[in-house]
Amino acid sequence: MIQIENVWKEMGGEEVLRGITLEVKAGELMVVIGGSGVGKSVLLKHIIGFLRPDSGDVLVDGVSIPNCSRKELYEIRKGYGVVFQSPALLQSLTIEDNVALPLQEHSGFPDDTIREIVRDRLHWVKLRGVERKLPSELSGGMQKRVSLARALVMDPRLMLFDEPATGLDPILTAAIGQLIVDLHARIGFSSIAVTHNMNLAYLIGDRIAMLYNGRIIEVGTPEEIRRSAEPLVQEFIHGIPNEGS
Ligand SMILES: Nc1ncnc2c1ncn2[C@@H]1O[C@H](COP(=O)(O)OP(=O)(O)OP(=O)(O)O)[C@@H](O)[C@H]1O
Ligand SMILES: [Mg+2]
Repeated sequence: MIQIENVWKEMGGEEVLRGITLEVKAGELMVVIGGSGVGKSVLLKHIIGFLRPDSGDVLVDGVSIPNCSRKELYEIRKGYGVVFQSPALLQSLTIEDNVALPLQEHSGFPDDTIREIVRDRLHWVKLRGVERKLPSELSGGMQKRVSLARALVMDPRLMLFDEPATGLDPILTAAIGQLIVDLHARIGFSSIAVTHNMNLAYLIGDRIAMLYNGRIIEVGTPEEIRRSAEPLVQEFIHGIPNEGS
């Protein structure tokens, strides 16, 4: 489904990605872990097509994203559901209108069909009775759920999550993690989630890949990562500072 092939990328005079190779199978939920500033968001932006690699390639369903025209990218992104690091809701619009935005832009459905889909997706993320509220009337955890509902309205085949648990306490983190697991089982999307939260990574990942110093240094099931013999992986998952920190 996603093939990242030897991707190199310099940002601000620094080689952030130094030959990233990673494959995500159809229906798989891959978690990329790594410390702050290691390049997780930069990597995701290559899959969305916001950034182009200096060399290497990113294939989604066999299509080379860096070689797509702007129009082709626009079409491909309709099949993506993206949950950004911050909920990125429009503050002046109601929850209902925020979630409806992708449908209004892309679907051509009549208004009442759109309302129905919006209510349905809000139920999927366990939000009821919030349609007419403004984002500022909701807690951070509820806003995260709204952004998740918005990412789901176009029935995405690919979901991309950038720190789905940012700003959430451990209980809400577990709740949003469980929600992602349930939605993944229900819809069967392929996915990459980037995070530095190990509890979340273990909960949602079919496999976990660790990004360090511009490269993927280990990929495995949560159990394999727990038992990894790689000291850098053990230091990261147990929160032990290393010499580079
Ligand atoms: N637009 C940009 N211009 C210049 N440098 C950038 C840009 N975006 C990111 N970088 C640099 O690339 C590196 C990786 O950034 P990135 O945002 O991918 O980190 P991250 O792993 O997502 O961190 P965090 O966990 O804090 O979100 C950082 O050193 C950052 O300063
Ligand atoms: Mg980031």
